[in-house]
Amino acid sequence: MQKIQSKIEYMLFENIDELDINARYLMNEAIKAREKAYAPYSNFNVGAAILLDNNKIVLGNNQENAAFPSGLCAERVAIYNAGANYPECTILSIAISASSSKHKVTNPVGPCGACRQSIAEYEHKQKQAIEIYFMGEEGKVVKVNALKDLLPFGFDSSFL
Ligand code: THU
Repeated sequence: MQKIQSKIEYMLFENIDELDINARYLMNEAIKAREKAYAPYSNFNVGAAILLDNNKIVLGNNQENAAFPSGLCAERVAIYNAGANYPECTILSIAISASSSKHKVTNPVGPCGACRQSIAEYEHKQKQAIEIYFMGEEGKVVKVNALKDLLPFGFDSSFL
C-alpha cells in the first residue's frame, strides 16, 4: 500500500479588479449573463462566459423548470452552446458568477460535479486545458489553470 498525496493549485484574487483585463472582461460577461438567468424556483442565478480561440464569447445561464431535473446549469448551457455552434473552436477559458436573491453570495461558487464532467469532455476532446474563473456575486475570484484541477481521477473516453 502506498499513501499518495496530490496537490491542486489555484489562484485566489481579492476581487474582480485584480484580474487581468481579458479575464475581467470575460467575468463581466458572465455577470451580465447571470442577470438574465431563468431561476424562479431557486432564486440562485448563475452566469457563464466562454472565450473561444476565434475570440468569440459564448454565454449561458441557468434555465430552471417546474419539473426540477429538466433544468440545466449555466456552465452546461454555455458549453453546449459553444459545442453546438463552434465545434471546431478551442475553448480557452470560462468565467462563472453566481448570486442569490436571498443572500449576498461572497464566496466563490465552483461548478457542480455534472458541470465539471461536461467541461472535462471538451478539455479531453481539444487536448488543451481550459482555464476556469469562478466567483459569487462579489468578492474573491478563484482561477484554476485546467478543469482537471477540479476533477481528479476524472472519467473520459480513454477508458472506453
Ligand atoms: N447551478 C448552476 O447553474 N451551476 C452550478 O454549477 C451549480 C448550480 C444552478 C442550478 C439551479 O438552477 C440553481 O443553480 C440552484 O442549484
